[in-house]
Amino acid sequence: MSLFNLAVLISGSGSNLQAVLDAVGSGTISNSKVAVVISDRDGAYGLERAGRSGITNMVINKKETEKLLDTLKSKNIHGIVLAGYLSILPSDVIDAYCGKIINIHPALLPLFGGKGFYGIKVHQAVLAAGAPYSGATAHLVDSGIDTGAALVRGVVPVYAGDTAEGLQKRVLEIEHTVLVQAVKALTEGKTDELKSNPLTIISENDKPGITDYAKGLSELGEVLTKTAAVK
Ligand code: GRF
Repeated sequence: MSLFNLAVLISGSGSNLQAVLDAVGSGTISNSKVAVVISDRDGAYGLERAGRSGITNMVINKKETEKLLDTLKSKNIHGIVLAGYLSILPSDVIDAYCGKIINIHPALLPLFGGKGFYGIKVHQAVLAAGAPYSGATAHLVDSGIDTGAALVRGVVPVYAGDTAEGLQKRVLEIEHTVLVQAVKALTEGKTDELKSNPLTIISENDKPGITDYAKGLSELGEVLTKTAAVK
């Protein structure tokens, strides 16, 4: 059986990349390999993580569309994972990989998404709005910003007294579980199922009402606890 080749695009630390690498290593994501890791900036720590795992890695500037497309083609890439990738993907790439590109966003889309909602700004906005819960969303990428169909969401509590940095850390933990479930679905050809029946994962540090909130979000899709999702 031939492997499903993934390209992971990053801009920073690459902890989401690491979660995907670990899931491929453990067999949670099976019959797949991360064939290339591409950063849009020099010095991204994720490149080092890739190198340590013996994976081809390189910097491709966001304006080098041809180089990006050529690399994806030469590596026989079947699907793309945007794991903390801060550039907007060129439309030629989106068209070439329609329905095969996943992004992880650190909020419960459609809330706190779109232009200007990136990094710590997302968590600052969640706190300013007084939202009782936040989380992460893995979604398909279309031509809009954070507008593609949600596949998997992970819900975490927001506590009184939270700082944006503290919330960011809590969200990042569930991002890893959420992204792995979405990439697994991509490699297994199950994204259509999730599009109509998104999965919602609840963090282990529960808060009253979180399950009902997650059920509402899941639009009648399945709700799992984080530990169940990891297994
Ligand atoms: C994550 O919060 C991701 O959602 C956001 O950037 C961060 C990247 O983290 N877009 P890492 O590089 O995967 O550690």
